[in-house]
Amino acid sequence: MALRLLVVVAAVVVVAAASCRAGLADPAVSALPGLPVAGLAVGFYKESCPEVEDLVLAEMRAIVEKDRTLGPAMLRFMFHDCLVRGCDASIMLKSRSNKGEQDALPSYGLRGYEEIEQIKAKVEAACPLTVSCADIIALAARDAVYLSNGPRYAVETGRRDGKVSAKFDADSDLPPPSSNIVDLKTYFSVKGLGWKDLVVLSGSHTIGSAQCSTFASDRLYNFSGKGMQDPSLDKAYAASLREECEPGLKNDTTPVVMDPTSPYEFDLSYYRHVYRDTGLFLSDQALMHDRWTREYVERMAAAASPDEFFADYAVAMTNMGRLEVLTGDSGEIRETCAAYVD
Ligand code: HEM
Repeated sequence: MALRLLVVVAAVVVVAAASCRAGLADPAVSALPGLPVAGLAVGFYKESCPEVEDLVLAEMRAIVEKDRTLGPAMLRFMFHDCLVRGCDASIMLKSRSNKGEQDALPSYGLRGYEEIEQIKAKVEAACPLTVSCADIIALAARDAVYLSNGPRYAVETGRRDGKVSAKFDADSDLPPPSSNIVDLKTYFSVKGLGWKDLVVLSGSHTIGSAQCSTFASDRLYNFSGKGMQDPSLDKAYAASLREECEPGLKNDTTPVVMDPTSPYEFDLSYYRHVYRDTGLFLSDQALMHDRWTREYVERMAAAASPDEFFADYAVAMTNMGRLEVLTGDSGEIRETCAAYVD
């Protein structure tokens, strides 16, 4: 009887946690953290390297003061680390035969490799062979948000670094900016992330920029392969984008800010843009094509305060930060984050 009760209770906990993850629960309820992951904890280094979070923040501050475009880059970096083989810093590994994650199409334009190494060197000097690169990536992403006036949420640490990096994984696990809502939800759900994680984490596009080549064809010049502008894109916004991105250029690296009203401010304006058809990517605008994600966009677009978004963001980043992590004796702690896999 006691065993049966235990099984029922365990099943309820698992279902509740899974539906919370999937974003199925009431938004108020889904603010509860999901099931903790063994080996991860806030303050994991409190005995072994108590100064790590201060060191990362100080270094991030110096990096962003020198070049503010690196803040958003470091936030994107965590997404690319975590969605591919989990948050294990495998994005830092190099391949001499161009078969690593760094060589994959979705890694195009990714920046932050040198900065992660720079932060790691500072941390190594204080606490040799103690803190993983995967944790540094997660802490740097949080500080990028914080230094853009976003929330300074608690970050779980205790991850260890992987030894495998494959181009194929990055090519297949990262959604392209041309994704529709069904594709986006699929890319996220295979990783255990739900619609709420999707719509909340997409709010990261409230800071930073994208190169013309990532959206100009889809949205301005060859929508659906028809040689025209995306009819759903706001006309005035499209006209301004056309001035920045010339037609016919294949690899146009011109950076275009994703949130023209406040490109370095972590705020609600991403949702206001998506609501007004001035989201940059098809994947941003796609959030309006699903009942649940649309309702969230609408609510955030109308919100007077970013509090709900900030609280949701902390939960969604925690969920992403738990993906397929290596803990305990798995993986390794390297002296430098980059290493050759072949
Ligand atoms: C939902 C699917 C997503 C798609 C399709 C997507 C796609 C992209 C693309 C194509 C760029 C432009 C890259 C460039 O031109 O250099 C970009 C930039 C960016 N993405 Fe995403 N992204 C997604 C989700 C996320 C998530 C979950 C995060 C963070 C948690 C994120 C954070 C960023 C940031 C901060 C930038 C600006 C980078 C910079 O300024 O250097 N994105 N994204």
